[in-house]
Amino acid sequence: MALFGNKQEKTYDTGDLKVPVSLGVIMDGNGRWATQRHLPRSAGHKVGAENLKELCRNCVRYGVKYLTVYAFSTENWARPQPEVDFLMKLFVELFDKYDAELAEEGIRVRFTGDDSELPPKVREVCKTAEERSKDRPNMQLIVALNYGGRREILSSCRKIAEKVKDGSLDPSDITEQMISDNLYLPDVPDPELIIRPSGEMRLSNFLLWESAYSEFWVSDTLWPDFGYEDLTQAFRDFAGRDRRFGGLSKKESKN
Ligand code: FPP
Repeated sequence: MALFGNKQEKTYDTGDLKVPVSLGVIMDGNGRWATQRHLPRSAGHKVGAENLKELCRNCVRYGVKYLTVYAFSTENWARPQPEVDFLMKLFVELFDKYDAELAEEGIRVRFTGDDSELPPKVREVCKTAEERSKDRPNMQLIVALNYGGRREILSSCRKIAEKVKDGSLDPSDITEQMISDNLYLPDVPDPELIIRPSGEMRLSNFLLWESAYSEFWVSDTLWPDFGYEDLTQAFRDFAGRDRRFGGLSKKESKN
């Protein structure tokens, strides 16, 4: 089996685990990881980006089919300009640099978000990465770049409003399914599980519509240190969750 880097192959434990088809990860804690080591925040982002490869590798091994990661939010422009510039540079460098490894793992790369505000060079790299990876079969890595859940819902509503405006749709016929169908990537299943490292207990505008029934899992590990054991624990805990979707649990509905 192909490997990322020279890391030793691990035993992929599937005993008590449940592996989601669609997984979301909020890669949080890069800044704190760097500060704890008296390093600049950029060092945390660099190690964080390396760690994304490790996550991809583990997700492919476990059989995740869609992995959506939060790389840059519509609110992240408010960070100091040098940090924003560093992140944009990282996005430009990394998708080319990692492509051979992503190809070996059969990973298709896609992007979600409002690309109109991204620097032209970043847009170009994203387009190339999507194009050259489109036939890869094992997993889709969806990178949320200049992504905001509210903006995505707004964009869906605007597309639907166009139909109302041209008279082809009556407002009373608008359905939840139509809003889903007009999101950025309507073919990607809603995440069954969302993982947030670094101890914060919020969604931060990530996949707001899609996460209506997602299970949420947090850990205190900072993103650059988030590894195989954390992911395995998340899948183990996910196996024990009683997903009722507003109904009753299987046990209760038997009574
Ligand atoms: C949040 O940590 C992290 C980000 C805003 C950037 C995430 C980006 C990467 C991990 C690089 C991804 C690279 C590619 C190629 C997609 P934070 O800075 O908010 O950490 P803090 O809460 O400790 O300050």
